[in-house]
Amino acid sequence: MSKSSFQVITCKAAVCWGPEEPLKVEDIQVELPKSSEIRVKMLYASVCSSDILCTKGFPIPIFPRVLGHEGVGVVESVGDEVKEVKEGDMVIPSFIGECRECDNCLSGKTNLCLKYPLILNGLMLDGTSRLSVRGQKLYHSFTCGTWAEYIVIDANYVVKIDPSFHLPFASFISCGYSTGFGSAWKEAKVEKGSSVAVIGLGAVGLGVIEGARIQGATKIIGIDINDRKREKGQAFGMTDFIHSGHESDKPISELVKDLSGGFGVDYCFECTGVPGLVNEALLSAKIGAGKTILVGATEEATVPIIFLPLLCGGTLKGTVFGGLKIKSDLPFIFDKCHNKELHLHELLTHQVSMAEMDKILQLAKQQDCVKILIKF
Ligand SMILES: NC(=O)c1ccc[n+]([C@@H]2O[C@H](COP(=O)([O-])OP(=O)(O)OC[C@H]3O[C@@H](n4cnc5c(N)ncnc54)[C@H](O)[C@@H]3O)[C@@H](O)[C@H]2O)c1
Ligand SMILES: [Zn+2]
Ligand SMILES: [Zn+2]
Repeated sequence: MSKSSFQVITCKAAVCWGPEEPLKVEDIQVELPKSSEIRVKMLYASVCSSDILCTKGFPIPIFPRVLGHEGVGVVESVGDEVKEVKEGDMVIPSFIGECRECDNCLSGKTNLCLKYPLILNGLMLDGTSRLSVRGQKLYHSFTCGTWAEYIVIDANYVVKIDPSFHLPFASFISCGYSTGFGSAWKEAKVEKGSSVAVIGLGAVGLGVIEGARIQGATKIIGIDINDRKREKGQAFGMTDFIHSGHESDKPISELVKDLSGGFGVDYCFECTGVPGLVNEALLSAKIGAGKTILVGATEEATVPIIFLPLLCGGTLKGTVFGGLKIKSDLPFIFDKCHNKELHLHELLTHQVSMAEMDKILQLAKQQDCVKILIKF
């Protein structure tokens, strides 16, 4: 690997060449950062289920593409206009920015900044790429592709962290777990004493459980088709578990009602991305007053929604990154982590090196897999 602050860097990256194609570890070229951008030497990255969706062409089929959006690294070089971070700073990437000035940032209603928006076209803000492989343009995931030894990202999409932060946890906080945590804390605003159901106990669902526990929910029902998630859910604060599809022929919503006084829960979170479960989530929430939060993503463009719970006043709310603002809200999660109030260590089940990146898609299918950590 060649390395210099003034040159194009050649380094290894995991490249996805097309839908459902195996990942290939390639030598790629990473250009210098432009004015508002930084180049980061990655130390760790991790796998979020949205990366698996990207291998299928989600949210738009752009290939070849460097995948990955969770990670942590050290700033190697900065563009001329960059003020907030400098060479040597430790940062995590994010897929949304927070300018604190635009209508959305000032609204108090959303974490989606208008100035630094969610980017889905696999390119930098100016519509160009800093990555190539054998002369061919490479796309990345959201604001960067973290499954690479070096990335270029706009400085407005990174969060500086204390260098003493446990780095694998920093990587986990950069998407899935925080999305879940924020969904309970910021998006649903779960209150003390409430009842909660969480469908799907991956890193996202486990983050919801932790967020709901810290908000003071007293009943937290976890639901998963994989019985191994029972123990994981309990570690984060789940009070009841439904092994869906195995314990009974009843639909999930009926099983949730059985465990919540017959009327359903105050908040239900859909964290699998299985299209049909959105309706089960809606039906699991208390009629009229219940809120359903859609967190799971799918490559399907449309999904049929059952009408009656909404007509009766129920709420269906989607979320990106759990409603978290990267500057205003992430420090709360960092503090909780620092105070050892979070169970991030329970997420790590697999670790791979860059040479083993081609195994990631297989590992992600294993029953005991929650988080795969990539060490560079
Ligand atoms: N909205 C956002 O900003 C955002 C951010 C990150 C991830 N996501 C999405 O959230 C979802 C979860 O991500 P993750 O990394 O936790 O995924 P994961 O694959 O690790 O976990 C999903 C869990 O759902 C369970 N499951 C699957 N099918 C089920 C079924 N039919 N019934 C019950 N349980 C079932 C699985 O056993 C697994 O435990 C994905 O769709 C991902 O794309 C959304
Ligand atoms: Zn803004
Ligand atoms: Zn993610």
